[in-house]
This record gives sequence, structure tokens and C-alpha cells, in this order.
Amino acid sequence: MTISDIFSPYEDLIEIEILGEKHQVPENNSLLRCFQFLAMESISYGDFCWNGECLNCQVWLQNGEKEKAVIACRTEVKPDMRIVRISDDIDLSGE
Ligand code: FES
Repeated sequence: MTISDIFSPYEDLIEIEILGEKHQVPENNSLLRCFQFLAMESISYGDFCWNGECLNCQVWLQNGEKEKAVIACRTEVKPDMRIVRISDDIDLSGE
């Protein structure tokens, strides 16, 4: 499998913030794909169903004054998203 098989087609990388750090990730993809882009090994081999059932991919977005919980495999990335909390199952260290 090549990278282009995994990701939905994209032309640009967009910037989002994850736990206070800025990252460039592929537009037109789910947040979980974006995490995979950043940490290919750990997300690829992580405990994820990729279809909205396990909830292991839950993250919390800053939404005005509040936080909003979403599931990363079913949420398309948008520019300037701010992810303020992530599930313990999401390992972005890449190892
Ligand atoms: S990976 Fe299972 S719900 Fe998102």
C-alpha cells in the first residue's frame, strides 16, 4: 500500500493545532487520517475500527468557550482546527 492509497486526494497541507502544537496535515481527509499522516506507524497499528464504532479515536475540539467531542475517523479536517484533548488510544509520538 502506498501513501496515495491511504489518503483521500489532496493538493495542499493545512495547518491545525494539536495539544498546543501546530501541524501541517492533508486537506480533504479525516482527522484520524491526518493523525496517521503525522504518526504513520502508531496510528496504522493502533486499535482503531476506522468506521465510527470503537470511539478510540475521540478528540475534543475547541469550540468557542467550550470543548466539543468528535470522533476523528468521521470528522473531516478543517483549517485552523484546535484539538485540545485526545483519547489515550491516539499515540502521536510516531513510535
Ligand atoms: S476509529 Fe473507531 S470510532 Fe473512529
